[in-house]
Amino acid sequence: MEELRQKYIAAIAAAADEGALESLRVQAVGKKGEVSLKMRELGKMSPEERQVAGPALNALKEEINSALAAKKAALADVALEERLRAEWLDVTLPARTRRVGSIHPVSQVTEEVTAIFADMGFGVAEGPQVEDDWHNFDALNIPGHHPARAEMDTFYMARAEGDNRPPHVLRTHTSPVQIRSMMKHGAPLRIICPGRVYRCDYDQTHTPMFHQVEGLAIGRDISMANLKWVLEEFFSAFFGTHVETRFRASHFPFTEPSAEVDIRCSWEGGTVKVGEGDDWLEVLGSGMVHPKVLTAGNIDPLAWQGFAFGIGIDRLAMLKYGIPDLRAFFDSDLRWLRHYGFASLDVPSIHAGISA
Ligand code: PHE
Repeated sequence: MEELRQKYIAAIAAAADEGALESLRVQAVGKKGEVSLKMRELGKMSPEERQVAGPALNALKEEINSALAAKKAALADVALEERLRAEWLDVTLPARTRRVGSIHPVSQVTEEVTAIFADMGFGVAEGPQVEDDWHNFDALNIPGHHPARAEMDTFYMARAEGDNRPPHVLRTHTSPVQIRSMMKHGAPLRIICPGRVYRCDYDQTHTPMFHQVEGLAIGRDISMANLKWVLEEFFSAFFGTHVETRFRASHFPFTEPSAEVDIRCSWEGGTVKVGEGDDWLEVLGSGMVHPKVLTAGNIDPLAWQGFAFGIGIDRLAMLKYGIPDLRAFFDSDLRWLRHYGFASLDVPSIHAGISA
């Protein structure tokens, strides 16, 4: 018995890991372990022998079990120590600096425009960028032979031979959202629709994708006078100074009468200043919604009337923030974005209110 004791106590002390400990446990006190087998022999002993050997074997078994438990705890401590040493980190080291993203001028201006019109009671509507030609053209009183279809340099979606779905285009303006909003909500209605539009055009002031914001107000007696007030209110809030507008008679198939609107500006020293000077800059198209367009939108033109306008968002961003080349907007050049972008927590606060 003493031999067994010495053998196992020494082996347990020397065990390198939990696996070794476990096989020692099986060898010594497992069901067929050496100590267990000895215990089975107790039955064959005389009562006197048993009285000595029984307690001694039990004591041995207990000693081995507690040696196993102690060694197991010691191994776990060592493992933990080891891990703590290996995973140590110096929380006093200064953090690595990270580039923070910035808000693109188009997002920024869209946000500002939305906030200003929201203050005037306009909700925001959206429509698909891939539009069917009915919403983009026909419903807006631009029939198939109309030159506006060609003028707009439309991108048509490819169609497989035999596909008889209606032709689809990349919307050439946000005006189709007028139709969708009229059909969805009926009259009265007061919405703006900001979004991407597409035309096949590319130079310093044109990109094949750009942004517009459409405006639409329909009521019983909404007039051009309301349009002029809303636009002047908008431009003054947007540029932070009183901005005069000039209406020039124009033509759009979906408005009658139609007007292009200029804002007062100066060009002194090669840079534009909005709100002062003797020059005029064209910024949008507008007019009273054509009766045929109301009809296409399921609104009775004898009971309702209203105005609509479309403004170029990118153009507004260039004017307000002095950005010279439109193409750079969409080059995704990080140096440009860092220069002209806005920090997410440091944006001009139009939300503070128009009069702020
Ligand atoms: N859709 C016109 C354009 O893209 C702008 C416009 C909108 C004109 C609404 C009148 C009314 O040029």
